[in-house]
Amino acid sequence: MASTTALFLFCLSSSFLAIASSDKSPPMNLTIVNNCPFTIWPAIQPNSGQAILQNGGFSLETLAFRSFVVPSHDWTGRIWARTGCSIDSKGKFECITGDCGDHVECGSRGGASPATLAQIQLYHSDDQKDLTSYGISLVDGFNIPVSLTPHQGRGHCPVVGCNIDLLATCPKSLQLKTIPGRGKEVVMGCRSGCGAFGTDELCCRNMYNSPKTCRASSYSNFFKTACPSAFTFAHDTPATAVDDCVSPRELKLIFCN
Ligand SMILES: *[C@@H]1O[C@H](CO)[C@@H](O)[C@H](O)[C@H]1NC(C)=O
Repeated sequence: MASTTALFLFCLSSSFLAIASSDKSPPMNLTIVNNCPFTIWPAIQPNSGQAILQNGGFSLETLAFRSFVVPSHDWTGRIWARTGCSIDSKGKFECITGDCGDHVECGSRGGASPATLAQIQLYHSDDQKDLTSYGISLVDGFNIPVSLTPHQGRGHCPVVGCNIDLLATCPKSLQLKTIPGRGKEVVMGCRSGCGAFGTDELCCRNMYNSPKTCRASSYSNFFKTACPSAFTFAHDTPATAVDDCVSPRELKLIFCN
């Protein structure tokens, strides 16, 4: 009897949900694809106070993908891939790039730079129009190539990305390498000027924190030359910055395509 009641309630609530959601715009999926020849650990960080998606992180084997429905209300956050992750002798989960602090699931925590970031803003217009903005940021450096492709959107919905392997050309002073003495040294990340030198000027802090005083540097220009559509310093304004892609049904984020 108890189970019949439970089943009835379940049916009632699921049909109610179906009716409620049919009023709104159809769901949008975020699909994350690993085209790299190695496992990556994607991480998703919502802006403060917003929903955590997929527990904030998971592992994704080579050539695997994960597709999930994103909130159908205003949501802003960033996605990156962690690389070189392993469990150390004390059982601690660690990544060479993008680490969010000992966990496969990052919750709402941010990650260590350098990491290539995809920034996404959903449903952000005042008049409830289904607008999506997205961009690739190299402001915190680069770890692996990524591209973002919207599907079935209307308006201005370009593919954006940074598909060049900047680890191969990264200037020596910006290189992040694997820990010396633990096998062959490999460049795993390319730091921003801010990440490498930490000056107010390169980090656009204090007196440099305005559109007038925060400027490109030779370091940000290295990233800009390779990937013109990406943001490369705090007040950068790439020509292809997207602000009006209407109702895409899917955003596909491909690492290493
Ligand atoms: C969207 O995500 C849902 C939930 O994970 C999944 O069942 C569905 O297949 C996805 N749709 C597409 C088009 O990938």
